[in-house]
Amino acid sequence: MPLPPALFIAGAGTEIGKTYVTAALVRSLRAKGRRVRALKPLASGVPPLHDPTFAESDTGRLLAAQDIAITPVAVDACSPWRFAAPLAPDLAAAREGRSLAFDDLVGWCRARLGEAEADETVLIEGVGGVMSPVTDAATGLDWLKALGLPALLVSGSYLGAISHALTAVETLRAHGVTLSGVAVSESEGAPTSPETVAAAIARHGGVTVGIVRRGGDFPGNLV
Ligand SMILES: Nc1ncnc2c1ncn2[C@@H]1O[C@H](COP(=O)(O)OP(=O)(O)OP(=O)(O)O)[C@@H](O)[C@H]1O
Ligand SMILES: [Mg+2]
Repeated sequence: MPLPPALFIAGAGTEIGKTYVTAALVRSLRAKGRRVRALKPLASGVPPLHDPTFAESDTGRLLAAQDIAITPVAVDACSPWRFAAPLAPDLAAAREGRSLAFDDLVGWCRARLGEAEADETVLIEGVGGVMSPVTDAATGLDWLKALGLPALLVSGSYLGAISHALTAVETLRAHGVTLSGVAVSESEGAPTSPETVAAAIARHGGVTVGIVRRGGDFPGNLV
């Protein structure tokens, strides 16, 4: 599948493997000599930079995959909206007495997409599932549609994952979003193999599906 210049990493749910898969894709593209910029514009549950657990945050993991040192400038450039509470961004922002304007979010992402070089791929990790709220009025789907990017959907392989993934696929299609594929990130303790889950999603969803095993690399059949 040809690599688009930019890709939105959407989730069939939260804590499903979006950051793991995005980091794996970053490493895979870099190994092929491609320049990559991975962004997590809205990041919840982020400790302060000096906290030892910062490296485990989405921002910390995406910077590590890009071999970028954790500095205030680098962190702001990856995740300008960071919140301490591990909640949806609208709720996490409210906890801190802050608010998040949808137009600012879309404008910031468009600016980053506009400044990308021709040989650079921009990856934007969304938040939670496809329709998780990002502001009082907008969901992640509104964000994705406003950017007009193709999406890579990340699914798990837990019991119930097939329906979650297919529902997300249908929703994205109904809203005119181009789907570049589905990455099934193997869930811990799943009762069936990721192959079984991936085959069902491919068959019922009519979409290209790749498997990311526990601790594994980005699959060669996606993007
Ligand atoms: N294929 C995998 N192999 C090993 N660990 C994984 C894999 N997929 C996910 N994980 C782990 O599961 C946890 C949740 O994954 P991850 O943080 O990537 O989810 P997420 O969808 O980005 O979550 P959020 O909605 O908070 O952004 C993390 O600890 C991550 O390292
Ligand atoms: Mg994440």
